[in-house]
Amino acid sequence: MTETEIIDGKAFAETLLAQVAKDVANLKASSGKTPGLAVVIVGEDPASQVYVRNKVEKTKAVGMVSVHHILPADTSQADLLALVEQLNQDEAVNGILVQLPLPKQIDESAVINAISPDKDVDGFHVVNAGRLATGQDALVPCTPTGCLMLLKDRLGSLSGLNAVVIGRSNIVGKPMAALLLAESCTVTIAHSKTRDLPALCRQADILVAAVGRPEMVKGDWIKPGAVVIDVGVNRIPAEGGKTRLVGDVATKEAMGTASAITPVPGGVGPMTIACLLFNTLRASRMQWGK
Ligand code: GUN
Repeated sequence: MTETEIIDGKAFAETLLAQVAKDVANLKASSGKTPGLAVVIVGEDPASQVYVRNKVEKTKAVGMVSVHHILPADTSQADLLALVEQLNQDEAVNGILVQLPLPKQIDESAVINAISPDKDVDGFHVVNAGRLATGQDALVPCTPTGCLMLLKDRLGSLSGLNAVVIGRSNIVGKPMAALLLAESCTVTIAHSKTRDLPALCRQADILVAAVGRPEMVKGDWIKPGAVVIDVGVNRIPAEGGKTRLVGDVATKEAMGTASAITPVPGGVGPMTIACLLFNTLRASRMQWGK
């Protein structure tokens, strides 16, 4: 039996936020300018509202300016594109985040690709995705950035390790795989059509689960000593008519086999917001040449 470390993403994120706050203060002192982040939400999806409220609060807490646009659910694509263009032109705005998912009448990729790549703090624009894929300086999506920080903190060099990423989304799976490849891991991306997923996972020194299926990854899928990063946030029914959050990994089963695992909640989640503000600081510096 291995002693499994529970990776404290919350504490790591707090340290990162404190560093961002210090850098924001220094930047203000030297340039007289304050980084600004605009967050746009369309409609009233309750989960999105919680995420956005949290983003606004943390933006202010690190000393940045927060601009918050709330648009009705029936907003047209043209109106949303006009707002994005206005934010692209606004010198007080260094980062733009349009909360996903967007309502059906709006083409998400048209909106994402209308954001200036230099202000694309989500790293979702094709230019940033292409820069990441080709090893050029890019704004990188926040969740995989946070996962990589936790992995490097735990493992140091990742060179030569077998990494399996379950999930091929543009937000997590694909950029995560690109980051691990850049760290010289041998990377496999698994998805719903993958054959014998348990056997593949058993090869993984690093296992990243980002599929959105509650506790899909079982304890006996995990290689002894592996580091497991659980990106899933799934709300499931619990006793007494309540609900509770679980990840994509059956965490209890993994205890004693993995060398380290991120918990849900308190693992990857807090890192995502911290990395958003880290990206906003980076974007500001790039725009100001500082
Ligand atoms: N919805 C869920 N996660 C994200 C994210 O990281 N960025 C944006 N813009 N929307 C999301």
